[in-house]
Amino acid sequence: MTEVNKILTKENFSNEDLEFLLGLQGSEKTLLFEHSAKIKEKYVGNRVYFRGLIEFSNICSKNCLYCGIRHDNQFVNRYRLTDAEVLSAARFADENNYGSLVLQSGELETGSFIKRVEKLLLEIHKITGNRLRITLSCGEQEKDTYRRWFDSGAHRYLLRIEASDQELYEKLHPYDGRHMFQRRRNCLNTLQEIGYQVGTGVMIGLPFQTLKNMANDLMFLKEFEIDMVGMGPYLVHKNTPMFALRDKLLPLEDRLQLSFKMIAILRILMKDVNIAATTALQAIDQLGREKAIKIGANVIMPNITPGKYRDDYLLYQNKPCTDENADDCKTCLEVRVALTDNEIAYGEWGDSEHFRSRIKSATDSRVK
Ligand code: 5AD
Ligand code: SF4
Ligand code: FES
Repeated sequence: MTEVNKILTKENFSNEDLEFLLGLQGSEKTLLFEHSAKIKEKYVGNRVYFRGLIEFSNICSKNCLYCGIRHDNQFVNRYRLTDAEVLSAARFADENNYGSLVLQSGELETGSFIKRVEKLLLEIHKITGNRLRITLSCGEQEKDTYRRWFDSGAHRYLLRIEASDQELYEKLHPYDGRHMFQRRRNCLNTLQEIGYQVGTGVMIGLPFQTLKNMANDLMFLKEFEIDMVGMGPYLVHKNTPMFALRDKLLPLEDRLQLSFKMIAILRILMKDVNIAATTALQAIDQLGREKAIKIGANVIMPNITPGKYRDDYLLYQNKPCTDENADDCKTCLEVRVALTDNEIAYGEWGDSEHFRSRIKSATDSRVK
């Protein structure tokens, strides 16, 4: 048996095993992808869940060194969707049977922002007859805020750890007391305690990042018992401090291949989690998202933000779908998913199976 096959048949992987798998090339890499594709088929089926993505505001108080909409980027045209625009996008998701949507924005902790999100949650549920599951992706917040939003009907939350290694995290964020690794970790714990389905993820191909870091990222996701994962390649944006490090990056194709390997290995490590085929994959390869679905991803996020705002939510350069509208992305993704021999699970919430079993085992152990 080859070394790859020997590792793939193991019950538990060591960090060294993961590092080895991340380094695979050529036909050995193909073996990894074939194995993860089989696991996906067996545990989550060849089905893809849609989450309609509403980027409802690009106003952000933070200054992550890699992000195009960071507070200090003066060249961004800042916007906030009106309530009517958010509700109309939500109605589109409902009428098109998407089953769930994601409300994403820059990070603000003001009272008016907190109240606004609360109100939008209640309104969306009201006009769509509680047919949609709502995910929030609005950054770090106090426990009380997370709880208020949960009580208003948000049951999933996405907060990427970005890099699970504290030292690397600190290289990607300013040292100003507002970008603390520990707070981010605490937020993830709090979200889990409140009862959210919790999603996190990392960027891949960051400056200073090693294969060891990535192997540890995978271990972090597993040990944290995460329910949903979104990971994608790091891509430069010219109006960010990290643009200065562009010559130190791996070539785009390598960042893409590493992203695929991270997705495939995660599917093997965590068989029943929801894994997104992220938009950043498509910024490198026209078929990036399709390839991710083939080897392990089972969630895709069609953008349903009104077209006129899309150019202004530019986290990185070459972001796809900025010239399109909600209907274009729907038609486009229907064709793309069909190409992967997967089926779109219309009309389903698509809760993470991992969340169900996590909650069940917590309840069972309390009963015992
Ligand atoms: N390249 C890739 N991903 C990025 N994000 C932000 N900036 C970039 C970039 N330059 C990701 C972060 C964040 C998510 C909303 O977008 O991981 O959590
Ligand atoms: Fe703001 Fe998020 Fe960008 Fe950081 S990654 S600057 S929190 S939008
Ligand atoms: Fe938006 Fe293809 S998914 S245009």
